[in-house]
Amino acid sequence: MAFPNERPRRLRTTPALRQLVAETTLHVDDLVAPLFVAEGLSAPNPINSLPGQFQHTVPSLLAEARELYARGIRSLILFGVPASKDELGSGAYDPNGIAQVALRTLRDEFGDDMVIMADLCLDEYTSHGHCGIVRSDGTVDNDATLELYAKTAVVQVQAGAHIVAPSGMMDGQVAAIRRGLDEAGATDTAILAYAAKYASGLYGPFREAVGVEIANGGNRRTYQQNPANRRESLREARADVEQGADIIMVKPAMTYLDVVADLRRELDVPLCAYHVSGEYAMIKAAAANGWIDGEAVALEQLLAVRRAGADFVLTYFAKEIAEVLQR
Ligand code: PBG
Repeated sequence: MAFPNERPRRLRTTPALRQLVAETTLHVDDLVAPLFVAEGLSAPNPINSLPGQFQHTVPSLLAEARELYARGIRSLILFGVPASKDELGSGAYDPNGIAQVALRTLRDEFGDDMVIMADLCLDEYTSHGHCGIVRSDGTVDNDATLELYAKTAVVQVQAGAHIVAPSGMMDGQVAAIRRGLDEAGATDTAILAYAAKYASGLYGPFREAVGVEIANGGNRRTYQQNPANRRESLREARADVEQGADIIMVKPAMTYLDVVADLRRELDVPLCAYHVSGEYAMIKAAAANGWIDGEAVALEQLLAVRRAGADFVLTYFAKEIAEVLQR
């Protein structure tokens, strides 16, 4: 042996010692809980493919947020599910749309004690399920969409969002939203940009959660990134930071840890990753079969996201893991 005195196992002998020399930690402050609120429900509706997650009514959303708060979670991201959808996704920027109603309720309840983020996109609100305006030839119109994103951002902030999180992957979206917010006087509102967002098969359960089906068997490959590309994420993220993104995100998480590590190394803004619906569902399904220890795998994956360089993680495990971390 080259180093006969090196015995790494010495530092693994007790739990306290292992924790002392741990290079990475996972804390409840590192977790953001995604929540869904749906219009027109009389009771919360369980999401089949996301066991433990619900389409909430406004009152059940509030109850869930209180429970998260009691477990130490101080940040959530809200998705709205409207009762009816249209070509232009008008529910997204309706001041009385479901997300705005819920944002007002949350902000009234928590004030500044909880970081309230609003996912900013049109797909939950459009009849065709795309994240932007669709032209007659079926393509997504980038620049026409930007105006609606800016409008949505302003309405979300007026309703109480501390942070808006554009997830539509239109070019120039951060600049358009920044301009819209500044013109509305919301110069202090931060933008969390879904900067590197891949066209992933892992969003399946989310689409059940928000009732999105993309028209004509379509997909998002003309705006979300090709999973084959790594360098491209750096370009996407730099562009977002130049346009005014305050925080950047990589999504999904586990399949793109190389991208998380790249962005951590190259950029100095806060960085997060979204452990998405399919990642949660895979763990839940395998655990339900008794094939893995779901809690152990969830902890391992969330820690891996931190190890790769993310400051925090958006995860459907937030509530469950907060409880484990408090033990
Ligand atoms: C788009 C959006 C999606 C998710 C978050 N924002 C779906 C998509 O891009 O198709 C997915 C989140 C998840 O899978 O957990 N508004």
